[in-house]
Amino acid sequence: MSAEAAPALFCLFGATGDLARRKILPALFKLHAAGAAPNVYVLGVTRTADIDDTSFRGIATEAVSGGSRSREAAVWADSRLHYQPIGDGTPEDHAALARRIEEIESRHVLPGNRIFYLALPPAGFAPTARGIASAGLARSAGWSRLVVEKPFGHDLESARALNEALHEGWTEEQIYRIDHYLGKETVQNLLVFRFANAMFESLWNRDRIESVQITVAEDLGIEQRAGYYDPAGVVRDMLQNHLAQLLTLVAMEPPSRLDAAAIRGEKVKVLESVRPPAPSELVRGQYAEGKFGEAPVVGYRGEKGVPAGSQTATFAALRLEIDNWRWLGVPFFLRTGKRLARRVTEVVLNFREPPVSLFERYEACRPQSDTLVLRLQPDEGFFLYFDVKRPGASFELARQPLHFNYAEAFGPLPEAYETLLLDVLEGDQTLFVHSAEVEASWRLFTPLLDAATPPLPYAAGSWGPEASEAIIGEGSRAWRNP
Ligand code: BG6
Repeated sequence: MSAEAAPALFCLFGATGDLARRKILPALFKLHAAGAAPNVYVLGVTRTADIDDTSFRGIATEAVSGGSRSREAAVWADSRLHYQPIGDGTPEDHAALARRIEEIESRHVLPGNRIFYLALPPAGFAPTARGIASAGLARSAGWSRLVVEKPFGHDLESARALNEALHEGWTEEQIYRIDHYLGKETVQNLLVFRFANAMFESLWNRDRIESVQITVAEDLGIEQRAGYYDPAGVVRDMLQNHLAQLLTLVAMEPPSRLDAAAIRGEKVKVLESVRPPAPSELVRGQYAEGKFGEAPVVGYRGEKGVPAGSQTATFAALRLEIDNWRWLGVPFFLRTGKRLARRVTEVVLNFREPPVSLFERYEACRPQSDTLVLRLQPDEGFFLYFDVKRPGASFELARQPLHFNYAEAFGPLPEAYETLLLDVLEGDQTLFVHSAEVEASWRLFTPLLDAATPPLPYAAGSWGPEASEAIIGEGSRAWRNP
C-alpha cells in the first residue's frame, strides 16, 4: 500500500443508498483526511434528478460526520464531490454521464483514471456495467475500474451469467469484486501469519493438525433486512462468500509470489479440492425467540417483513473435507449464524495429541490437544493454548494461553473499506475475488441451497441447534464457544 493514491474520479452509483452512506463515503472521507487520497474526486450517481451537487454534498457531509455536519467533512464535500443523475440508464443518460465525467476531469486536471463503484442492488450490476461500457467509459486515457459488491449471483448459474455480462465490456483485470472480509486486517494477516513464520507453516498440515474450526457468529438478528435476507438465507449471505474466503486463506498452499494472480490461483485450488458436501450434511437452523444480553428478542419469523412460516435458515454448520496432500483426513468445521450467543469470528486449529501419553496416569491432568485460536474479530489477536506444569508438589497440568492482542500492540485497526478502496485506487487486486473463485465457490455451495428439511429452531442467544454438536463431536472434539 503506497502512501498516496493516484488522482482519480470515483463514480459512486447508488450514492445515496445505505452502503454508500454507511461505508463508502465515510471510507473515502477518511482516506482523504489521512492524506491518502488527496486528488480523488467523487461523482455521486443515482436515478433521481431531484438531487444536485449542493444537496448531494449535504447528504455526504451528514453521512460521514455521523448525522451532524463536521466542518472538515463539509470542506471535503464542497471541494471534492459532484452529482449526476442517470435516470433510467438510457444511452442518452450514459452519454450525459460521459460528458459530465470529462467536464469534471478537465476542471480538476485529472488524467482519466476512473472508478465505477456499483453500490446497487444486485439486479443493477449487469445493466449498469453494460451501460457504462457502451458509453465508452470502460476505456480512458488513464485506467478504468469497475467495483461490485457481493452477492455475486444467487447460485452457480446466475454467477456465471453475471461474470459473462461483466466481461462483455470489462476485462477481469478491471473488475474488483468486494468481499469485505478480505479487507479486515486480521484476515489479511492469515497470509502473514502462515507464510512469514516458518514455525507455523511447518505445522500447518495433516501430520500435525487434527481438525480446523471456522466460526463466524453474530449476536444481531437480521435487523431491517428481511426483504434481502429472507430470499437469500445463510448459505448465500455468509457461507458461499465470507466463510469460503476464510477457508481458502487457511487452507491454501504458499503462493509462488505475493501478487493477486498467484494468491487467487491458490485459493481457487482449495475450493476445487473440497469434496462436495451433500445437502443432508448441512445443519440448518433458524433462530426462535430468546435473549440478546438480558433483553428478550423475537424469533426470526417474528422479525418485521419476514413471511409467516418462513423456512429460511439463519444458521449453518457443516463438515468439509479437502482432498489434497496437505489436508486429506483433516475435517474443517464451518459454522455461522445470526442471534448467537456472542459476536465472534475465529479460526481454531486443533493440533494432534502426542503419540504417547506420558501424563495419562495423573487423574487431574488429562492433557488436551494444543490449540491455536486466530481471533479475527472482535478483540483481534491470537491465543496459543498448551499445557504447563502447575507449580506445586502434586503433579498437575494446567492449560495456559500465549496471547497476542492487536489493539494492545498497534491501537485501533482501520476499517475494511478504507483498505479496499485504497487498493482499488492503486490497482492491487489481491484482496478482491476473481471470477474463478466465485464460480468454484458456487459450484460447492449451490447444491446446499436445496434443503430437504425445514431449518431446526434454536433459541436466540444460544450457539445454534444441538444437531450442530453432532457433526463435530467425535472423541473429545467440541466446538469452541468462547
Ligand atoms: C454481510 C452480511 O456481508 O456481512 C450480513 O450480508 C452480515 O448479514 C455481515 O451481518 C457480517 O459482517 P461483519 O463485518 O460484521 O462480520
